[in-house]
Amino acid sequence: MTMTDLRNIGVIGAGTMGNGIAQTCALAGFPVVLQDLSDAALDRARKTMEGSLARLVKKATLTEAQAADTLARITMTTTLDLMADRDIVIEAIVEKLEVKAAILGKLDAICRADAVLASNTSSISLTQLAAASAHPGRVIGMHFFNPVPVMQLVEIIRALQTTDAVAEAVTALTHAIGKTPRVSKDSYGFIVNRLLAPQINEAINCVYEGLATPEDIDSMMKLGANHPMGPLALGDLIGLDVVLNIMETLYDGFDDPKYRPSPLLKQMVSAGYLGRKAGKGFAEYP
Ligand code: CAA
Ligand code: NAD
Repeated sequence: MTMTDLRNIGVIGAGTMGNGIAQTCALAGFPVVLQDLSDAALDRARKTMEGSLARLVKKATLTEAQAADTLARITMTTTLDLMADRDIVIEAIVEKLEVKAAILGKLDAICRADAVLASNTSSISLTQLAAASAHPGRVIGMHFFNPVPVMQLVEIIRALQTTDAVAEAVTALTHAIGKTPRVSKDSYGFIVNRLLAPQINEAINCVYEGLATPEDIDSMMKLGANHPMGPLALGDLIGLDVVLNIMETLYDGFDDPKYRPSPLLKQMVSAGYLGRKAGKGFAEYP
């Protein structure tokens, strides 16, 4: 295998992002191993992928047979063993440096030394993550956007240690799965979330200050700024725990009060009102 031939793909974490990444890669013809901690998490992921593929079948973008073939290309597992033969493993687990660093350490022991280790982190320094691997040159950020089957961009973030060969191979893979890569240097939140997360946080501060209802704030941004959905609905789509983790990374990383997480954002997360995935956030999702 040359670095430009990343074919066998592993995805760790089958939540909001992981199942979308697995589906997108499998739809493009790549064999995928999708790992999560429990069968229940994998069952939820399978149902989400079935629903997403069914949308494509309904609008005749895909045949029933192609949807079935896509799912058949995804092997689901609760252990990391099947990552041993993967050319690239994309990690999409919780947005915490220590948890991601621990997975990279485990993958070092399981994966081939030339396998690429990519992280779908939203904000964490890739340079810090790469430092947790015994082979830091193979670590890179491959940042997909939610909902993965729909959103075009993949931000590719080079750690200080990432080799040119790894960056080129991941850029080629991004094209091969039908997405558009844009490369940035490593910095907290990279480009998109450095701009987007503070906007969501500020919208939550507007609710906290009682300036307007969540519905009105969202409709103002849709009608006044032509955003496809308002910032509070977007926070609910992303997951308010993820938004809080991003804000904390920006706040701590840049050591700048302008990124202070909204007190209401912290309360929502403490209450378990995490957005769509919890059935309740700034709106209810029955
Ligand atoms: N799977 C497959 N297709 C899907 C889908 C899914 N999960 N969700 C939506 N679609 C498709 C629909 O079938 C539809 O396709 P057609 O136009 O071809 O018919 C299209 O997407 C639009 O969907 P809907 O008509 O149902 O709804 P919509 O027009 O309101 O669009 C949306 C929904 C795409 C989510 C749109 O509101 C949007 O773009 N919102 C902003 C999303 C965004 O900003 N995402 C980035 C979040 S930040 C992030 O991800 C980074 C991070 O680290 C936190
Ligand atoms: P999520 O909570 O929806 O899913 C995370 C999944 O990882 C869960 O199914 C959980 O069981 C699993 N998991 C946790 N620890 C694990 C471990 N040690 N091994 C295997 N699986 C494990 O989270 P998400 O929203 O999919 O976010 C995942 C990553 O993607 C985070 O780094 C997040 O910042 C990033 N991200 C999220 C979004 C978004 O809009 N939600 C967008 C881009 C990037």
